Amino acid sequence: MKKHKPANRIEEYDLRARYCKDDYLMSGRGEYDTDYRINRIVDRLTLMPHFRVLDIGPGSGRLFELIHTRVSECHGVEPADSIVERLSKKFDDVSNVQIHLAKSNRLHFDDDSFDIIVINGVLNLLDTKEEAIETLQEIRRVANESAIIFVGEFPFAFEGPGQLQGNGLQRTWRKIRQGNLQEVVGIGFRKLVQTTRYLLRIEPKIIPSHTGINIPEDEFFHICRTIGMDGTAERTRFKYEIAASRNDYILRPATPLDPDTGLHSASDRFHSNQNSR
Ligand SMILES: C[S@@+](CC[C@H](N)C(=O)[O-])C[C@H]1O[C@@H](n2cnc3c(N)ncnc32)[C@H](O)[C@@H]1O
Repeated sequence: MKKHKPANRIEEYDLRARYCKDDYLMSGRGEYDTDYRINRIVDRLTLMPHFRVLDIGPGSGRLFELIHTRVSECHGVEPADSIVERLSKKFDDVSNVQIHLAKSNRLHFDDDSFDIIVINGVLNLLDTKEEAIETLQEIRRVANESAIIFVGEFPFAFEGPGQLQGNGLQRTWRKIRQGNLQEVVGIGFRKLVQTTRYLLRIEPKIIPSHTGINIPEDEFFHICRTIGMDGTAERTRFKYEIAASRNDYILRPATPLDPDTGLHSASDRFHSNQNSR
């Protein structure tokens, strides 16, 4: 089976959708890790029958498989043509799931459209920090005032050359030095499964593109607060490991902070001026 070397992340996922037999490879992880991750996300969301859900970068579409019977509408946004095609076929006979071709920073939905927005394992794949900030602004725009926003698997620190899946040896050595043995076993297991699949010619080898971004946790919250969202962070858990440098964020719409003063509104600013006299 062929080896593919995509030029960027979008092409990487496009190739996965075009050539991989296993649906799960569209999420870049195996079945067990993806099921574990998506189940953990669903556990944290309160679902209601009238809710409209947006999944930005749905990958294998696992989230919608699990929740589409429990909500009113599910919309997925994907920039990779082959994923849109494959997911549209997959959900062909499910009337409340729609997959749209778009990038995360240009959402074509009206303001206040969604009750739940999930973006898991996607922000880190964007080319620039500006694109990530534009994406967060778009998320805030299309979220209604009581929405839950789940931003998952987002690195708060640089993860080394090639980021998560890049130079395996360097990454493994770094984790061993950090004493993170559970994660080393997890990485080793994943590599073994991927290599076996390739050698047995079950799946093609798609070399991950070496791009990716991270934002430190404090800065991420500062960005969210100035956009008008706030919430909590928790270290990302995969099935076999706790990520050393990634967080899951659960956010809610909030009054935006002024980026210069760090205050909420004109009335806050008035009180602050009074106090400083
Ligand atoms: C690592 S997979 C995550 C899939 C799924 N969210 C999950 O957690 O299983 C990344 C997904 O994001 C998509 N993606 C990449 N760049 C994107 C962008 N700019 N906007 C929206 N989705 C993007 C990929 O095509 C792929 O489906």
